[in-house]
Amino acid sequence: MKRISIAIDGLSASGKSTLAQGIAKALNYLYVDTGAMYRAVALFALREKLIDREGQLDEEGMKASLQRVYLTFRFNPGTGRGEICLNGRNVEKEIRSHEVSKHVSVVARVPEVREKLVLAQQRMGSHGGVVMDGRDIGTVVLPEAEVKFFMTADIEARGKRRHKELVRRGRSVSFGDVLDNLRSRDRIDSTRDHSPLVQADDAIVIDNSDLTIEEQFDHMMACVQQVLNA
Ligand code: DC
Repeated sequence: MKRISIAIDGLSASGKSTLAQGIAKALNYLYVDTGAMYRAVALFALREKLIDREGQLDEEGMKASLQRVYLTFRFNPGTGRGEICLNGRNVEKEIRSHEVSKHVSVVARVPEVREKLVLAQQRMGSHGGVVMDGRDIGTVVLPEAEVKFFMTADIEARGKRRHKELVRRGRSVSFGDVLDNLRSRDRIDSTRDHSPLVQADDAIVIDNSDLTIEEQFDHMMACVQQVLNA
C-alpha cells in the first residue's frame, strides 16, 4: 500500500487537529501539528520578553534568538501522539494557553520564523505516510500532497468548540474573549504577506459547521481511500 501525504489546512478551531489525528491513527501515519510549532515559538518569545504589554513583537530580537529555538516532538504512548518540546522540555500544555493563542499570530507572520519551521515540516513530511495540519500545508509546505483538505466552519461554531476546550482544561476565559481572539487570528493569518492562509486550488473543502466528527471523518476517509485505491 502506498504511503501518501495528507494536508489539512483551515481556520483556527475548525476541527483540523481532531480529524487529522483520527485519520493518522486509522492509516497508521505520522501526525504533525504545525500550529503547535508556531505556538512553541510564541511561548519562547513570551518567556524571553520579546512581546510587550501591547502585544508588539520585537522582530529583530525574535530573529536573533531563533537559533536558540529547538523544537522536537516526543511520542506520548498514553495519548498516542507526539507532544511538542521546546529546547528539550515538553510544553504541550503551556502552548494551549489563552496567552499563547493571543500572541501566536504576530510570531507566525515573521518570515524567518516561517522559513525555519517550514523546513523542519518538509523534512518530517519527506517520506510520505504523514498527516499534517496547519494553514499553509497544501500551498507551501507540502504542495505535492496527494490529498488536501481545507476545513472551515462559522465563527460561532468554532468559538463554542475552542471555549469548551479551554474550559475542559480548567481555564477561565469568556466566550466573548475567545470569539475576539478567533476573529483577530483569522484576520492576521489570512492577510499576512508571507504564506497567508489560503485554500489550495486542489483542496477538498469541508464546511463542518453542521457536521458531526463521525460524518467528517467518514467523508474524509472516503476521499483518502479513493486516492489510495487509484
Ligand atoms: O492551529 P493552531 O490554532 O494551533 O495554530 C496556532 C497559530 O499558528 C495560528 O494562529 C496560525 C499559526 N499557524 C501558521 O501560521 N501556519 C501553520 N502552518 C500553522 C499555524
